[in-house]
Amino acid sequence: MNPVKVGLLGLGTVGGGTFNVLSRNADEISRRAGRGIVVSHAAAREYDAGGLPGIDGIDVGDDAFALVQNPDVDIIVELIGGYEPARELVLQAIANGKHVVTANKALIAMHGNEIFAAAQDKGVMVAFEAAVAGGIPIIKALREGLSANRIEWLTGIINGTGNFILTEMRDKGRDFSDVLKEAQALGYAEADPTFDVEGIDAAHKLTILASIAFGIPLQFDKVYTEGISRITRADVTYAEAFGYRIKHLGYTRRTQQGIEMRVHPTLIPERRLIANVDGVMNAVLVNADAVGPTLYYGAGAGSEPTASAVVADIVDIVRTLSCDPGNRVPHLAFQPDAITDIPVLAMDDIETAYYLRMQVSDKPGVMAEVASILGDGGISIEAILQKEPPAGVDQASIILLTHVVQERQMNDAIEQIEALESIHGDIMRIRLEHLNCD
Ligand code: HSE
Repeated sequence: MNPVKVGLLGLGTVGGGTFNVLSRNADEISRRAGRGIVVSHAAAREYDAGGLPGIDGIDVGDDAFALVQNPDVDIIVELIGGYEPARELVLQAIANGKHVVTANKALIAMHGNEIFAAAQDKGVMVAFEAAVAGGIPIIKALREGLSANRIEWLTGIINGTGNFILTEMRDKGRDFSDVLKEAQALGYAEADPTFDVEGIDAAHKLTILASIAFGIPLQFDKVYTEGISRITRADVTYAEAFGYRIKHLGYTRRTQQGIEMRVHPTLIPERRLIANVDGVMNAVLVNADAVGPTLYYGAGAGSEPTASAVVADIVDIVRTLSCDPGNRVPHLAFQPDAITDIPVLAMDDIETAYYLRMQVSDKPGVMAEVASILGDGGISIEAILQKEPPAGVDQASIILLTHVVQERQMNDAIEQIEALESIHGDIMRIRLEHLNCD
């Protein structure tokens, strides 16, 4: 049988890794797929030929639109990233009857509903394992391995750059911008690194995970998104004093009222395995009714870890080329006519616990005023810490943890506390999740 021909759009960090893994492990991969798989074409404006042994043997051009029309190519692998022209290229590839593999989380989160509908009409596959958590096969686990379960909630460290920055700040006291530069040099960071540090990249990935977990349409615009740039070294230290770590989490949960979808820095108990996922590594913790908690850990970014997921998708497609399209694994795990529009909760309606840090005048009665506002708002305090001011300074820090309340209650309380004369500046609020799996 002739080998399946793959056309790569992009020969950068992930494209190069995909080319190298497919070439290096060609025999092993064809034994798994049941057919040879070759990269026959690529489209790239620039690439490092020195790092791609064998690239001279394939047809490399710079016209991605010509490649998606090329009748000799069976599978298009989109590794350009970003919304456009990636969307147009993928839709054209589908219209031309080609299967598509993409690592593009922004594309799937934003345009996935349209892309999957087009693929469904045309009877082709669009595979996107590499779009979430790099080399961790989390899409496969959720869509197939956990298909017996009702998923209750999942959470993940799903941005390697952000986790790398928080880890280096905590362990080595390094400067935020210095660590970010290193992540960029290592090829972890997005083209626009604010996507990493402001949580947009994690929100793209959470959108995809929530859809597959709960069988809901992709709704990136409904994810609450907050980045790590406000986190200070002091917060990391105080969290540790209470037995918590601060991690930048994507979190989605099914409640009676609807689905929570949120990305924000979060205190989690340091004894949880996921609290100990450091550096550029990613992890996703899924709590499901039959199996209970399962944790998936691995490299969330980087050339060959991401290529590992891309190549696995290519193998999956090759294995099912002759299948009736109706018998393939559905794009969003649930059959397209069984996707349901469960409401996504507004941030005011979510429930969580909180870490609050405030700067107060060091005088009698302040703690009582704060406690009284919290008590009147139905907010119960779990722990409290007061740091004495250094000699000559008349302001102290109060740090407290609360029990779970509705975000709306906490917003009201924070507004009232910030209005007190004895409170200085804004209150630092970080959400806290216990991640109990009972
Ligand atoms: N910028 C992303 C990260 C790359 O740091 O996780 C992988 O999606």
